[in-house]
Amino acid sequence: MADFNKISETMKNTLKCIFVLFVLQTASGDRCSLEISPSRVVVAFGQPVTVSCVASRPVRVLGWESAIGPSHTQRDVAVQWSVDSLIDWIEEPICYGVFFSAPRQCEEKLNLVLYKTPDSISISMVNHTGPMVEGKEYQLLCEVQNIAPVQYLTLRWYRGQTEVYNHTFSELSPATPVQVSSTLLINPGRVEDGAPYRCEAALELGPEGPQPPPRVKSEPLSIVVHYPPDPFNPEREVVEFVDGEDVLLNCSSGGNPPPSYSWSSPNVQDNDENQPLLRAPSSGTYTCTASNVLGKSSKKFMVKPKSKGV
Ligand SMILES: *[C@@H]1O[C@H](CO)[C@@H](O)[C@H](O)[C@H]1NC(C)=O
Ligand SMILES: *[C@@H]1O[C@H](CO)[C@@H](O)[C@H](O)[C@H]1NC(C)=O
Ligand SMILES: *[C@@H]1O[C@H](CO)[C@@H](O)[C@H](O)[C@H]1NC(C)=O
Repeated sequence: MADFNKISETMKNTLKCIFVLFVLQTASGDRCSLEISPSRVVVAFGQPVTVSCVASRPVRVLGWESAIGPSHTQRDVAVQWSVDSLIDWIEEPICYGVFFSAPRQCEEKLNLVLYKTPDSISISMVNHTGPMVEGKEYQLLCEVQNIAPVQYLTLRWYRGQTEVYNHTFSELSPATPVQVSSTLLINPGRVEDGAPYRCEAALELGPEGPQPPPRVKSEPLSIVVHYPPDPFNPEREVVEFVDGEDVLLNCSSGGNPPPSYSWSSPNVQDNDENQPLLRAPSSGTYTCTASNVLGKSSKKFMVKPKSKGV
Protein backbone atom coordinates (compact mmCIF):
# COMPACT_ATOMS: atom_id res chain seq x y z
CA MET A 1 0.00 0.00 0.00
CA ALA A 2 2.74 2.37 1.00
CA ASP A 3 4.46 1.66 -2.30
CA PHE A 4 1.33 2.33 -4.26
CA ASN A 5 0.86 5.67 -2.54
CA LYS A 6 4.40 6.61 -3.35
CA ILE A 7 3.98 5.70 -7.01
CA SER A 8 0.71 7.53 -7.25
CA GLU A 9 2.30 10.63 -5.67
CA THR A 10 5.15 10.47 -8.18
CA MET A 11 2.73 10.09 -11.05
CA LYS A 12 0.68 13.01 -9.90
CA ASN A 13 3.80 15.14 -9.79
CA THR A 14 4.82 13.99 -13.23
CA LEU A 15 1.39 14.79 -14.61
CA LYS A 16 1.44 18.17 -12.97
CA CYS A 17 4.80 18.78 -14.50
CA ILE A 18 3.64 17.86 -18.00
CA PHE A 19 0.54 19.97 -17.51
CA VAL A 20 2.64 22.94 -16.45
CA LEU A 21 4.98 22.55 -19.42
CA PHE A 22 2.05 22.22 -21.82
CA VAL A 23 0.05 25.16 -20.62
CA LEU A 24 3.05 27.41 -20.11
CA GLN A 25 3.21 27.81 -23.86
CA THR A 26 -0.40 28.75 -24.32
CA ALA A 27 -1.02 32.03 -22.58
CA SER A 28 1.19 35.01 -21.98
CA GLY A 29 1.23 38.70 -22.68
CA ASP A 30 -2.06 40.54 -22.47
CA ARG A 31 -4.18 37.53 -21.62
CA CYS A 32 -1.88 36.57 -18.77
CA SER A 33 -3.09 37.91 -15.45
CA LEU A 34 0.44 38.19 -14.09
CA GLU A 35 2.43 41.30 -13.59
CA ILE A 36 6.12 41.36 -12.82
CA SER A 37 7.45 44.38 -11.04
CA PRO A 38 9.86 45.76 -11.92
CA SER A 39 9.49 44.13 -15.33
CA ARG A 40 13.15 44.74 -16.19
CA VAL A 41 15.95 44.59 -13.65
CA VAL A 42 19.60 45.43 -14.12
CA VAL A 43 21.76 43.94 -11.39
CA ALA A 44 25.46 44.45 -10.75
CA PHE A 45 27.45 41.26 -10.25
CA GLY A 46 27.19 40.16 -6.61
CA GLN A 47 24.34 42.50 -5.72
CA PRO A 48 20.94 41.52 -4.31
CA VAL A 49 17.79 41.45 -6.38
CA THR A 50 14.11 41.19 -5.49
CA VAL A 51 11.27 41.07 -7.97
CA SER A 52 7.62 40.43 -7.31
CA CYS A 53 5.02 38.73 -9.41
CA VAL A 54 1.37 39.56 -8.78
CA ALA A 55 -1.69 37.75 -10.11
CA SER A 56 -4.75 39.86 -10.81
CA ARG A 57 -7.24 37.01 -10.28
CA PRO A 58 -7.50 34.09 -7.86
CA VAL A 59 -4.67 31.69 -8.38
CA ARG A 60 -4.11 28.10 -7.35
CA VAL A 61 -0.31 28.14 -7.56
CA LEU A 62 1.92 31.12 -8.22
CA GLY A 63 5.64 30.65 -8.53
CA TRP A 64 9.00 31.56 -9.94
CA GLU A 65 10.85 29.06 -12.07
CA SER A 66 14.56 29.81 -11.87
CA ALA A 67 17.91 28.06 -11.52
CA ILE A 68 18.48 30.15 -8.39
CA GLY A 69 15.93 30.94 -5.70
CA PRO A 70 12.86 29.29 -7.24
CA SER A 71 9.77 29.83 -5.13
CA HIS A 72 6.05 29.28 -5.18
CA THR A 73 2.97 29.93 -3.12
CA GLN A 74 -0.49 28.39 -3.05
CA ARG A 75 -3.40 30.75 -3.36
CA ASP A 76 -1.36 33.86 -2.55
CA VAL A 77 -1.66 36.43 -5.32
CA ALA A 78 1.95 37.61 -4.93
CA VAL A 79 5.28 35.83 -4.90
CA GLN A 80 8.80 37.18 -4.79
CA TRP A 81 11.94 36.10 -6.50
CA SER A 82 14.80 37.16 -4.31
CA VAL A 83 18.56 36.51 -4.36
CA ASP A 84 21.00 37.98 -1.81
CA SER A 85 23.95 38.10 -4.14
CA LEU A 86 23.52 37.33 -7.81
CA ILE A 87 26.72 35.81 -9.20
CA ASP A 88 25.41 33.30 -11.73
CA TRP A 89 24.55 33.88 -15.34
CA ILE A 90 21.20 32.11 -15.25
CA GLU A 91 18.35 31.91 -17.70
CA GLU A 92 15.80 34.63 -17.13
CA PRO A 93 13.40 33.57 -14.33
CA ILE A 94 9.80 32.91 -15.29
CA CYS A 95 6.78 33.69 -13.15
CA TYR A 96 3.97 31.18 -13.69
CA GLY A 97 0.47 30.95 -12.39
CA VAL A 98 -2.01 28.09 -12.31
CA PHE A 99 -5.53 29.48 -12.11
CA PHE A 100 -8.98 28.17 -11.23
CA SER A 101 -10.50 29.44 -14.45
CA ALA A 102 -9.41 29.82 -18.05
CA PRO A 103 -6.84 30.61 -19.16
CA ARG A 104 -5.80 28.15 -16.53
CA GLN A 105 -2.12 28.80 -16.78
CA CYS A 106 0.20 31.46 -17.97
CA GLU A 107 3.68 32.81 -17.55
CA GLU A 108 5.72 35.98 -17.74
CA LYS A 109 9.43 36.12 -18.24
CA LEU A 110 11.50 38.55 -16.21
CA ASN A 111 13.80 40.75 -18.26
CA LEU A 112 16.94 40.28 -16.18
CA VAL A 113 20.33 41.79 -16.98
CA LEU A 114 23.26 40.83 -14.79
CA TYR A 115 26.25 43.00 -15.59
CA LYS A 116 29.90 43.11 -14.65
CA THR A 117 32.30 45.97 -15.25
CA PRO A 118 35.62 44.91 -16.80
CA ASP A 119 38.50 43.63 -14.67
CA SER A 120 40.85 45.69 -16.80
CA ILE A 121 41.11 47.71 -19.97
CA SER A 122 44.39 48.30 -21.70
CA ILE A 123 45.74 49.98 -24.81
CA SER A 124 48.82 49.04 -26.79
CA MET A 125 50.50 49.36 -30.18
CA VAL A 126 50.21 46.36 -32.49
CA ASN A 127 53.56 44.99 -33.69
CA HIS A 128 55.40 48.19 -33.02
CA THR A 129 57.47 49.86 -30.35
CA GLY A 130 59.04 53.29 -30.16
CA PRO A 131 58.32 56.38 -32.24
CA MET A 132 55.96 56.34 -35.23
CA VAL A 133 56.78 57.99 -38.52
CA GLU A 134 54.49 60.61 -40.01
CA GLY A 135 52.32 59.29 -42.84
CA LYS A 136 52.67 55.59 -42.03
CA GLU A 137 49.86 53.41 -40.75
CA TYR A 138 49.81 51.91 -37.30
CA GLN A 139 47.33 49.93 -35.27
CA LEU A 140 46.32 50.52 -31.70
CA LEU A 141 44.63 47.75 -29.77
CA CYS A 142 42.23 48.11 -26.89
CA GLU A 143 41.57 45.01 -24.82
CA VAL A 144 38.78 44.63 -22.31
CA GLN A 145 38.87 41.73 -19.87
CA ASN A 146 35.85 40.05 -18.36
CA ILE A 147 32.90 42.24 -19.20
CA ALA A 148 29.24 41.27 -19.36
CA PRO A 149 26.90 41.46 -21.16
CA VAL A 150 28.99 42.56 -24.10
CA GLN A 151 25.98 43.53 -26.23
CA TYR A 152 25.55 46.63 -24.03
CA LEU A 153 29.18 47.65 -24.37
CA THR A 154 30.34 50.72 -26.28
CA LEU A 155 34.10 51.04 -26.66
CA ARG A 156 35.14 54.59 -27.40
CA TRP A 157 38.52 55.75 -28.63
CA TYR A 158 39.78 59.18 -27.67
CA ARG A 159 42.68 61.30 -28.84
CA GLY A 160 43.04 63.85 -26.07
CA GLN A 161 39.44 64.82 -25.29
CA THR A 162 38.16 64.08 -28.80
CA GLU A 163 36.24 60.90 -29.54
CA VAL A 164 37.76 59.49 -32.72
CA TYR A 165 35.98 56.15 -33.05
CA ASN A 166 33.45 53.96 -31.28
CA HIS A 167 32.75 50.29 -31.49
CA THR A 168 29.63 48.47 -30.33
CA PHE A 169 29.17 44.76 -29.88
CA SER A 170 25.40 44.43 -30.17
CA GLU A 171 25.78 41.56 -32.63
CA LEU A 172 27.32 39.38 -29.93
CA SER A 173 25.03 37.38 -27.69
CA PRO A 174 26.86 35.88 -24.69
CA ALA A 175 25.47 36.95 -21.33
CA THR A 176 28.57 35.66 -19.54
CA PRO A 177 31.80 37.65 -19.12
CA VAL A 178 34.03 37.73 -22.18
CA GLN A 179 37.18 39.39 -23.40
CA VAL A 180 36.75 41.76 -26.35
CA SER A 181 39.04 44.04 -28.28
CA SER A 182 38.90 46.85 -30.76
CA THR A 183 41.54 47.98 -33.22
CA LEU A 184 42.08 51.57 -34.31
CA LEU A 185 44.00 52.25 -37.51
CA ILE A 186 45.90 55.52 -37.33
CA ASN A 187 47.93 57.50 -39.80
CA PRO A 188 49.50 60.05 -37.49
CA GLY A 189 50.50 63.50 -38.68
CA ARG A 190 52.96 65.87 -37.03
CA VAL A 191 50.23 67.55 -35.03
CA GLU A 192 49.65 64.23 -33.28
CA ASP A 193 53.15 64.09 -31.85
CA GLY A 194 52.67 63.53 -28.13
CA ALA A 195 48.91 62.95 -28.45
CA PRO A 196 47.49 60.74 -25.71
CA TYR A 197 45.20 57.97 -26.98
CA ARG A 198 42.78 56.25 -24.63
CA CYS A 199 39.95 53.81 -24.86
CA GLU A 200 36.94 53.65 -22.62
CA ALA A 201 34.42 50.90 -22.00
CA ALA A 202 30.89 52.04 -21.18
CA LEU A 203 28.05 49.68 -20.28
CA GLU A 204 24.89 51.37 -21.51
CA LEU A 205 22.27 49.26 -19.79
CA GLY A 206 19.16 51.31 -20.44
CA PRO A 207 16.95 53.40 -18.15
CA GLU A 208 16.80 50.66 -15.48
CA GLY A 209 20.59 50.54 -15.35
CA PRO A 210 22.90 52.78 -13.36
CA GLN A 211 23.05 56.43 -14.45
CA PRO A 212 25.46 57.58 -15.65
CA PRO A 213 26.48 54.29 -17.29
CA PRO A 214 29.51 52.61 -15.68
CA ARG A 215 32.70 53.59 -17.50
CA VAL A 216 36.23 52.26 -17.25
CA LYS A 217 39.12 54.07 -18.93
CA SER A 218 42.47 52.76 -20.04
CA GLU A 219 45.70 54.48 -19.15
CA PRO A 220 46.71 56.97 -21.87
CA LEU A 221 49.13 55.89 -24.55
CA SER A 222 51.06 58.90 -25.81
CA ILE A 223 52.45 58.42 -29.27
CA VAL A 224 55.68 59.95 -30.48
CA VAL A 225 55.60 60.97 -34.14
CA HIS A 226 58.80 61.57 -36.08
CA TYR A 227 58.61 63.92 -39.06
CA PRO A 228 61.00 65.88 -41.27
CA PRO A 229 61.71 69.58 -40.68
CA ASP A 230 58.78 71.80 -41.61
CA PRO A 231 59.03 73.25 -45.12
CA PHE A 232 59.89 76.95 -45.05
CA ASN A 233 57.36 79.45 -46.21
CA PRO A 234 58.58 81.49 -47.96
CA GLU A 235 61.60 79.57 -49.10
CA ARG A 236 63.35 82.79 -50.10
CA GLU A 237 63.30 85.96 -48.14
CA VAL A 238 64.81 89.38 -48.77
CA VAL A 239 66.19 90.99 -45.64
CA GLU A 240 67.33 94.58 -45.51
CA PHE A 241 69.89 95.91 -43.12
CA VAL A 242 71.10 99.28 -42.04
CA ASP A 243 74.80 99.98 -42.38
CA GLY A 244 76.74 99.19 -39.27
CA GLU A 245 74.11 96.88 -37.77
CA ASP A 246 74.19 93.11 -37.94
CA VAL A 247 71.06 91.46 -39.11
CA LEU A 248 69.81 88.34 -37.34
CA LEU A 249 68.64 85.55 -39.63
CA ASN A 250 66.32 83.01 -38.05
CA CYS A 251 65.57 79.68 -39.67
CA SER A 252 64.10 77.79 -36.70
CA SER A 253 62.05 74.86 -37.94
CA GLY A 254 59.83 72.23 -36.43
CA GLY A 255 60.78 68.60 -36.86
CA ASN A 256 61.11 65.51 -34.72
CA PRO A 257 63.76 64.59 -33.83
CA PRO A 258 64.63 68.32 -33.55
CA PRO A 259 66.59 69.29 -36.68
CA SER A 260 70.22 70.26 -36.81
CA TYR A 261 71.14 73.38 -38.77
CA SER A 262 73.87 74.37 -41.14
CA TRP A 263 74.48 77.68 -42.89
CA SER A 264 76.33 78.33 -46.08
CA SER A 265 77.27 81.59 -47.67
CA PRO A 266 80.10 83.01 -49.74
CA ASN A 267 80.57 85.52 -46.93
CA VAL A 268 80.97 83.18 -43.98
CA GLN A 269 83.06 80.11 -43.52
CA ASP A 270 81.19 76.89 -43.10
CA ASN A 271 79.46 77.17 -39.86
CA ASP A 272 79.24 74.10 -37.64
CA GLU A 273 77.55 75.73 -34.74
CA ASN A 274 74.29 73.97 -35.41
CA GLN A 275 72.28 77.09 -34.61
CA PRO A 276 69.07 78.23 -36.29
CA LEU A 277 70.21 81.85 -35.80
CA LEU A 278 72.93 83.58 -37.74
CA ARG A 279 74.20 87.12 -37.45
CA ALA A 280 74.87 88.26 -41.02
CA PRO A 281 77.85 90.64 -41.09
CA SER A 282 77.29 91.89 -44.64
CA SER A 283 75.00 91.65 -47.59
CA GLY A 284 74.87 88.49 -49.63
CA THR A 285 72.96 85.24 -49.87
CA TYR A 286 72.74 82.95 -46.87
CA THR A 287 71.29 79.46 -47.10
CA CYS A 288 70.15 77.60 -44.04
CA THR A 289 69.43 73.89 -44.03
CA ALA A 290 67.48 72.20 -41.27
CA SER A 291 67.79 68.43 -41.31
CA ASN A 292 66.97 65.33 -39.33
CA VAL A 293 66.92 61.62 -40.15
CA LEU A 294 63.69 61.99 -42.10
CA GLY A 295 64.63 64.85 -44.39
CA LYS A 296 65.81 68.36 -44.84
CA SER A 297 64.43 71.75 -45.66
CA SER A 298 66.28 74.84 -46.83
CA LYS A 299 65.75 78.54 -46.83
CA LYS A 300 67.60 81.33 -48.63
CA PHE A 301 68.02 84.78 -47.14
CA MET A 302 69.00 87.61 -49.51
CA VAL A 303 70.54 90.27 -47.33
CA LYS A 304 70.65 93.73 -48.96
CA PRO A 305 71.53 97.16 -47.75
CA LYS A 306 68.42 99.14 -46.87
CA SER A 307 67.32 101.21 -49.85
CA LYS A 308 67.36 104.93 -49.11
CA GLY A 309 63.89 106.33 -48.64
CA VAL A 310 62.84 108.68 -51.47
C1 LIG B 1 52.31 41.01 -36.02
O1 LIG B 1 53.53 40.33 -36.29
C2 LIG B 1 53.40 38.94 -36.34
C3 LIG B 1 54.78 38.33 -36.51
O2 LIG B 1 55.60 39.14 -37.31
C4 LIG B 1 52.46 38.56 -37.50
O3 LIG B 1 52.29 37.17 -37.55
C5 LIG B 1 51.12 39.22 -37.27
O4 LIG B 1 50.27 38.96 -38.36
C6 LIG B 1 51.28 40.71 -37.10
N1 LIG B 1 50.00 41.28 -36.74
C7 LIG B 1 49.49 42.35 -37.33
C8 LIG B 1 48.15 42.77 -36.86
O5 LIG B 1 50.07 42.96 -38.21
C1 LIG C 1 29.69 56.61 -32.59
O1 LIG C 1 30.30 57.45 -33.55
C2 LIG C 1 29.38 58.03 -34.46
C3 LIG C 1 30.17 58.86 -35.47
O2 LIG C 1 31.32 58.20 -35.85
C4 LIG C 1 28.41 58.91 -33.71
O3 LIG C 1 27.47 59.45 -34.60
C5 LIG C 1 27.69 58.08 -32.67
O4 LIG C 1 26.88 58.91 -31.88
C6 LIG C 1 28.67 57.38 -31.77
N1 LIG C 1 27.93 56.45 -30.96
C7 LIG C 1 28.04 56.44 -29.64
C8 LIG C 1 27.23 55.41 -28.97
O5 LIG C 1 28.75 57.23 -29.03
C1 LIG D 1 63.11 82.30 -34.46
O1 LIG D 1 61.87 81.81 -35.05
C2 LIG D 1 61.15 80.95 -34.21
C3 LIG D 1 60.01 80.37 -35.03
O2 LIG D 1 59.40 81.33 -35.82
C4 LIG D 1 60.69 81.70 -32.97
O3 LIG D 1 59.98 80.85 -32.12
C5 LIG D 1 61.92 82.21 -32.24
O4 LIG D 1 61.52 83.00 -31.14
C6 LIG D 1 62.78 83.06 -33.17
N1 LIG D 1 63.99 83.41 -32.46
C7 LIG D 1 64.47 84.66 -32.40
C8 LIG D 1 65.71 84.87 -31.61
O5 LIG D 1 63.91 85.58 -32.98
